[in-house]
Amino acid sequence: AALKKYQFDVKVSNVSRLCHAKQMLTVNGGFPGPTIYAREGDRVQINVTNYAQYNLSIHWHGLKQHRNGWADGPAYITQCPIQTGNSYVYDFNVTGQRGTLWWHAHILWLRATVYGAIVILPEQGTPFPFPQPDREEVLVLGEWWNADVEQVEKQGNALGIPPNMSDAHTINGKPGPLFPCSEKHTFAMEVEKGKTYLLRIVNAALNDELFFALANHTFTVVEIDAVYTKPFTTEAILIAPGQTTNVLVRANQVPGRYFMAARAFMDAPISVDNKTATAIFQYKGIPETVLPKLPTLPAQNDSDFALSYGSKLKSLNTPKYPANVPLNVDRHLLFTVGLGINPCPTCINGTRLTASLNNISFTMPHTALLQSHYFNIKGVYTPDFPDKPPTPFNFTGAPLTANLRTNLGTRISKIAFNSTIELVIQDTNLLSVESHPFHLHGYNFFVVGTGLGNFDPKKDPAKYNLIDPIERNTVGVPTGGWTAIRFIADNPGVWFFHCHLELHTGWGLKTAFLVEDGPGSDHNILPPPKDLPRC
Ligand code: C2O
Repeated sequence: AALKKYQFDVKVSNVSRLCHAKQMLTVNGGFPGPTIYAREGDRVQINVTNYAQYNLSIHWHGLKQHRNGWADGPAYITQCPIQTGNSYVYDFNVTGQRGTLWWHAHILWLRATVYGAIVILPEQGTPFPFPQPDREEVLVLGEWWNADVEQVEKQGNALGIPPNMSDAHTINGKPGPLFPCSEKHTFAMEVEKGKTYLLRIVNAALNDELFFALANHTFTVVEIDAVYTKPFTTEAILIAPGQTTNVLVRANQVPGRYFMAARAFMDAPISVDNKTATAIFQYKGIPETVLPKLPTLPAQNDSDFALSYGSKLKSLNTPKYPANVPLNVDRHLLFTVGLGINPCPTCINGTRLTASLNNISFTMPHTALLQSHYFNIKGVYTPDFPDKPPTPFNFTGAPLTANLRTNLGTRISKIAFNSTIELVIQDTNLLSVESHPFHLHGYNFFVVGTGLGNFDPKKDPAKYNLIDPIERNTVGVPTGGWTAIRFIADNPGVWFFHCHLELHTGWGLKTAFLVEDGPGSDHNILPPPKDLPRC
């Protein structure tokens, strides 16, 4: 095991895309920021220095941070933000995980530009459980906004004013040649006929689930969210904000130039899609004058593709990489996704949209929850988040008014150490033009079931996959449907749980799990580092 050290300077840089030059936050001037490379078992220290005008924090998405929530990063959940001019060292071990993850700012909408990939290689001498690629490439999908993203965020919170959507999707920060002034902002990877490539794909977009494909070539999916999967071949992948997917691709077509493309998936498209990002899969020796070929992507609202793609994702489940699915559940939780309208004196027209879980829209506290828990500071949160929605109703059929009664609160769910939790996330008839990618910090979970309509606790569990369900850290809850996940609460701390669409997170579609300490000193939260930022 090695110690890997990084210096991250968060600062304003000049970046131009789509004929617009603007100042935006970057890490070390890059868009995306640097890729972190580590091996399973390494210790990583990232010194983040904040030269921005915003106080901020950075999250290492998908790293489990065992007993070490201090390094997790969501502002006001596990730490106070790093103030302008200050630094904080995120210090953590990478244990029991290998694959592609990513990092991003975790406050306001700053992650729009402050993000990058994390590559965790298997331990030295341990091969991948799939054919060894000749080379690998990181592809981070994102969005470009001509406008200032913080202005867009303010609009997003005001009712009646639809937020500006981004102006283009991007692949490694570049929109590709289909946009004006973008010839020079096109990502290309050079390949050789007959060789195999491992693509490490990250969806860092703020608000869009994405289809991704490569013209004339197929992908073999081998890993998602840093967990190996049963390999399967597909023409396109679907990837939600927060998720990562590794695929193998063989350069086995007529040497030429082929487009890779990323386009939004929306169950009910609210706008015409004109944001498709492209990058080039460039066979060696082919002149750049040859016009690339576009892939066929699923239609923008192809929910059937989404469902069938999801059903193909399975854990590898071999003796070396077993799927340890919890079979007995200690506590059943049911969270419904709702939308409300609440008064907002500071908003443009006096009201704002609120999104809720079990009719509770989460209010950000003024100091971090993990410190409050650890140091026993009272009055910051209440550990009384309900296990079920307040009144049962027909979730997917009820009239719009059935769950508009949104309450505000910093309410979190208290979980006993080592208990097995089953959480069913139920979409409702509200806020349902797209699926909600829910992300749990500090854990992976198994996705044991999913379906359309109302979850039926009598019938649906009989259909669960308890053998080789996919294990991951971010899962889509389908429009008008539900998803059931299971995990064992063996990581004490305070762990954020939220929709990874930034618009919805901002509206309050989030809560946290307070996992209590276990018996004995090895099952407690580690002491906080000396440089932990204070509020
Ligand atoms: Cu990728 Cu709470 O975040």
